[in-house]
Amino acid sequence: MKIFIDSADIDDIKEAAAMGFLEGCTTNPSLLAKVGRRIESAIPEICEIVGGPVSAEVLSTDYDAILKEGRSLAKLHNHVVVKIPMLIDGLRAVRTLSDEGIRTNVTLCFSATQALLAAKAGATYISPFLGRVDDAAQDGTELLEQIVTIYANYELHTEVLAASMRSPLHVVQAAMIGADCATLPISVIRQLVKHPLTDIGLERFLSDAKTARETAK
Ligand code: G3P
Repeated sequence: MKIFIDSADIDDIKEAAAMGFLEGCTTNPSLLAKVGRRIESAIPEICEIVGGPVSAEVLSTDYDAILKEGRSLAKLHNHVVVKIPMLIDGLRAVRTLSDEGIRTNVTLCFSATQALLAAKAGATYISPFLGRVDDAAQDGTELLEQIVTIYANYELHTEVLAASMRSPLHVVQAAMIGADCATLPISVIRQLVKHPLTDIGLERFLSDAKTARETAK
């Protein structure tokens, strides 16, 4: 499972990229608003740091406008993946952009049928929002499982990008189910690295080594 960062914060993206395992980034209008950045300036900067696919989301909701915006986002950098909301006009635009060789990520996916249609329209990625499904008192991992199974049944090549991930448990569940990628906030990425027994173990190794150095003949 590829690990992406879900952020538009340059410091967070640099921190995650420096860890050595980051393979992509996803942004959305809320994440860009949070850091007060314009998409046109933020996306090329992020693309240079990440060195992998970076999702940049359109704000348009009708076919012609999505195409125009999508094409201009794709020109920002060759790592750009155009993120398009799950709408009928969005699916039409995914088909056209995908026929033009522009990669797409269908976002705001909350059902297996939406994911099936996105794959048939030629989406490169589908983004089921696990955490927001959980927030609605349903099971986000069940949705993920359905999508992964359906794609496998019909050999659909759209990559399943687990999004709205809130905890390390979500990450384990997504990996067990077989999601292709998971996009994570920096807080979850940091949590993935940590384990209290690692810290305790390291402290003991270092203190034993220090004692040994001081007492060794
Ligand atoms: O980028 C889309 C998704 O990951 C948003 O997550 O936490 O706002 O539901 P969240």
